[in-house]
Amino acid sequence: ETEVDTTRSYWSMKRALQRIQKVFPPSSVQQQRAVTTGSTPTINFLKGHPSPKYLPTEDLSHALQMAAKKAKSGEMELSYTANEGPKPFRQALAEFISCECKGDEGANNTCRKDGLFVTGGVSHGLDLACCVFGGGPGKVILAESPSYFLAFEIFRFHGLRVIGLPSDAYGIVVDEIEKIIQSLGPGKVSLVYLVPTHSNPSATTLAQKRREKLVALAAKHGFKILADEVYHMLDWGSAVDESKYKRPGRMAVLDHLYHTESSVKEVEEYEVPDGTQGSATETGHVLGISSFAKILCPGMRLGWIEAAPSLISMLSNHPYVLSGGGVAPLQAQVGHELLKSGRQAGHLSMLQREYYLRSKTLYEAVLKFPHLMIPAGGAENSQVCGGYFMWVKVVPTSVDTVSLQKIAREKFKVDFLPGERCHPEADKKKEYRGHLRLCFAYMEISELAEGVERLAAAIAHATA
Ligand SMILES: Cc1ncc(COP(=O)(O)O)c(C=O)c1O
Repeated sequence: ETEVDTTRSYWSMKRALQRIQKVFPPSSVQQQRAVTTGSTPTINFLKGHPSPKYLPTEDLSHALQMAAKKAKSGEMELSYTANEGPKPFRQALAEFISCECKGDEGANNTCRKDGLFVTGGVSHGLDLACCVFGGGPGKVILAESPSYFLAFEIFRFHGLRVIGLPSDAYGIVVDEIEKIIQSLGPGKVSLVYLVPTHSNPSATTLAQKRREKLVALAAKHGFKILADEVYHMLDWGSAVDESKYKRPGRMAVLDHLYHTESSVKEVEEYEVPDGTQGSATETGHVLGISSFAKILCPGMRLGWIEAAPSLISMLSNHPYVLSGGGVAPLQAQVGHELLKSGRQAGHLSMLQREYYLRSKTLYEAVLKFPHLMIPAGGAENSQVCGGYFMWVKVVPTSVDTVSLQKIAREKFKVDFLPGERCHPEADKKKEYRGHLRLCFAYMEISELAEGVERLAAAIAHATA
């Protein structure tokens, strides 16, 4: 890893924008667009949803028909399934992940068939991981800052204290972890949460060397890593920069037990956990938590946790899993049809192509306005390489994006997420008062440039 000069890309971007400013002086922005009123529809950069146009209506209906045939012929598993989820689905999922990630950085990115636990999506996976590994009230989770704001409440619900972990253009600053652990004392930090690839909201990707260092720290200090990899496969870095781009590998494969540990015995029906099941003296440290929400559709409510078998076994022994068996067996069997038919892979390629075009359009639109700056991104030039979002800093920094949102919504019919929401600590939210998050996935490509013009006009209005 080239150790990062965090401000380098920021300031070179600023210089470039200052040049652009000569071409588009702020006053021209103000004149360019009068306040939009009346029935003009809002351009919504706030919603972190997929484009309604790309919901997989055909693919899903095909998979449901295939699954319905199996249900009728008795081939479908309709009783309690394995605690980890239906085995044929996990096998097909492992093959899909291995295939999609084979070009990633790192020595061995193959997904283990017995290294997957089926969940009801990332949100459910995070909640389950907190139940099993959080340690309860009094423990601390270090969360990437800025990051996915809805995750913070899941952690707090488990009584965990959430402390922000700073990040720069290459993801979380891993060296900060030991400093925080030393200040809190040993045994306090049970979890570290991050979105390592194409983060929400910053679009940054954690560099491979930092990933390795993070996993080594987890083993040294005994915390577990919750790697929210919901955007890992929604990636188009090679379209942005074919010669240099290489996506870092998934976090779970870096766990020293992931490839070496032998399979843990699956729990038999009515077996009473004897305290040794799933509590091997040495367990893995990394949970890669992902789902079909961004690569297919959120409504599937289907996801997975990828980890060394010792951790999978601990998840399988959670009391509600022991009571109810696998979490989402029916969705998993529909998902299996999508994987088997190749339609999931086809859908993902389509999303990569379309969202690449949207992200590029938004990027080019933002570059035109000097008071919208992209402080960090997936590539050297700050162009987004995957995911749903662009993180923007508003200049002048005196602009408070919470107040700006009100003006933007009411007078300019454009919406976004104020940066404050993305800070994990309530009393430090002001650090991001000059930032905002734009989602390029939800709006039509033809609306993106117009949305940025409206936003620029709202800023000009707020600073006039
Ligand atoms: C980083 C991140 N994690 C998790 C989720 C939610 O995932 P799921 O729908 O699988 O629960 C989102 C959705 O926006 C997200 O951005």
